[in-house]
Amino acid sequence: MKTLNVLAATLLLLPVLGARTASAAPAEIQRGRYVVRMGGCNDCHTAGYSETNGALPESQWLTGVPVGYKGPWGVTYPANLRLLAQKLTEDEWNARIQLERRPPMPWFTMRAMSDADRRAMYRFIRSLGPAGAMAPDYVAPGAPVKTPFILFVPQSPATASVAPQSPTPSAAVKAPQSPELAVVVVIARRPRREVS
Ligand code: HEC
Repeated sequence: MKTLNVLAATLLLLPVLGARTASAAPAEIQRGRYVVRMGGCNDCHTAGYSETNGALPESQWLTGVPVGYKGPWGVTYPANLRLLAQKLTEDEWNARIQLERRPPMPWFTMRAMSDADRRAMYRFIRSLGPAGAMAPDYVAPGAPVKTPFILFVPQSPATASVAPQSPTPSAAVKAPQSPELAVVVVIARRPRREVS
């Protein structure tokens, strides 16, 4: 009798359990969207995101940026995460995102993130579908650079060769057009620890 009661209760619960599983996916995607936003991924991996105060449509999110960050580590480019997510399984993404990277990728933050958040992020990015082109390849220190780049090392005001851009939105929206027009980022902070 007891067994029968348990069986009956389980059967009654089945539709409820089924409904919960089906609705878990959108909630997870919503979570991933939130983590991507709060994680600042768009600040670097989406062209024009900061310049438009985050107003870009999701269709343009995380498609990579062909403007590099130049420092003692060479020149790095924020990868196209939309294409990356398409070719990785969730487990591969979860492992890869925790690997040590060159600046300014905050790879250490990915290790501090919960497993559930890293996976939700993958599901959200994958749900956006593939878009855009691959970011340029990493350039080693001293090798010729063929793209625009942002000089990402502290500059002393006396030696800065290019003045920081005007803070007006219209000027800020323009990305540097050639390697010669690289923006000098003046960082009034202590130098970062280098990761090679
Ligand atoms: C401050 C800029 C910046 C931010 C913020 C940032 N990234 Fe990156 N990311 C980069 C750069 C630059 C690289 C390339 C690093 C290299 O070449 O070693 C990179 C590389 C990566 C890679 C490696 C790509 C590959 O081919 O394996 C992944 C994955 C990644 N970022 C995901 C993220 C996610 C997810 C977030 C948000 C939670 C994020 N990044 C935030 C700049 C950034």
